[in-house]
Amino acid sequence: MTDTSNKMWGGRFTMSPAEIMQEINASVGFDKAMAPQDIAGSKAHAAMLAAQGIISAEDAAAIAKGLDQVLAEIEAGKFAFKVELEDVHMNVESRLKELIGEPAGRLHTARSRNDQVATDFRLYVRAWLDATDAAIGKLQLALARKAAANAEIVMPGFTHLQPAQPVTFGHHLLAYVEMLARDRGRFADARTRLNQSPLGSAALAGTSFPLDRHATAKALGFDEPTANSLDGVSDRDFALETLAAASICAVHLSRFAEEIVLWTTPQFGFIRLSDRFTTGSSIMPQKRNPDAAELVRAKVGRIAGAFQSLLMVMKGLPLAYSKDMQEDKEVTFDALRSMTLGISAVTGIVDDMQPVAERMAAAAGAGYSTATDLADWLVRTLGMPFREAHHVTGRIVALAEARKVALDELDLAAMQSVHPSINKQVFDVLTVAQSVRSRTSYGGTAPQNVSKMAEAWIKRLEGQGV
Ligand code: ARG
Repeated sequence: MTDTSNKMWGGRFTMSPAEIMQEINASVGFDKAMAPQDIAGSKAHAAMLAAQGIISAEDAAAIAKGLDQVLAEIEAGKFAFKVELEDVHMNVESRLKELIGEPAGRLHTARSRNDQVATDFRLYVRAWLDATDAAIGKLQLALARKAAANAEIVMPGFTHLQPAQPVTFGHHLLAYVEMLARDRGRFADARTRLNQSPLGSAALAGTSFPLDRHATAKALGFDEPTANSLDGVSDRDFALETLAAASICAVHLSRFAEEIVLWTTPQFGFIRLSDRFTTGSSIMPQKRNPDAAELVRAKVGRIAGAFQSLLMVMKGLPLAYSKDMQEDKEVTFDALRSMTLGISAVTGIVDDMQPVAERMAAAAGAGYSTATDLADWLVRTLGMPFREAHHVTGRIVALAEARKVALDELDLAAMQSVHPSINKQVFDVLTVAQSVRSRTSYGGTAPQNVSKMAEAWIKRLEGQGV
């Protein structure tokens, strides 16, 4: 059995691992996704080792060339990852050895898989954060454009999912643009704290070799090296922060997705989705199901689940590295992939959806949604205290309800039976169109506000190169 013991630490080991040991221990099945980051880290490390005179320039050149070839093989799908080599780090190094021989053995000087994996994972999450910032920007732009095109379309605004006050469709869409802006802010904050290089922390204590950690940090696009080697190898808060921000973003998307699901029902009928974003039923020919929205609504489960999962993995772990931390990657990769997919799907849905203005307008006037406008009119015109106006309006609504008519269909005499000073000017404020037009307070739903806000967002996002 000695001949099959591990190449990397075979010196002390005489037996190969039990089958189940290998199965639970190996991470290459998923951490191979970090191969590009692993190779970038190794190239930076080797170049620095040579610059510091720790290895020769020739060896560093051979390592760099060999690593380029390894990357080319991986990208071409020609690389045979071996589970017995445990993880991506040892797979890459082992192949490098096959390609260039002895110099490959010098690459791991003053380095451990502990700082290596911490570096790779940071680079991986950082690349995702950058791509995601751009992707969310695109979604915001799609929403802002839809809002600008539909600034005048009225729909019911809800509280408790009961018709509350009329709003404009554009206003509703812009609410999500704001949420997504904060999501981008949270991701950007996470990136700022993430962007320190653990490389050169070695196993946990640093190293006696004269490393230039600032040089490797710079080469890998980090702002600076981590300042404590124990911290550098043992925290995964950068992944936790990213997953926390992703969980919040996923909650935002799930709320929007739920609205899409509601709005596409025949009962609401507020929007239409084309064949591109719906599916039929294999048994019910009339069906048109918003599957993409439903899946976005569900993805939050995985994403928030990953956050919980990693929190629990990290909880109570003594410093520094423990193998527990290998459990950080699978859930994170899955969550980030789900988030990316969700953002793209929602962007597609936003581009695709068409508002059904008549349905929205009809619903906007339902449920006495302009009752607040009536109460405000009583305050403004008759100088009534708002509490009293609320009471008077309540009685007028009850009257309209008893007669089964809308507020603006109730005749003046009926209104005057509740309060004699009401005059016919009141009818000016009772329509849905007038209601939304009047909401000109900053951040309010008036179409002129919405147009202005939508245009400002479009300009800002286009200015960001989205
Ligand atoms: N595959 C390991 C991980 O993902 C790499 C680090 C292993 N380090 C160690 N000391 N065994 O965490």
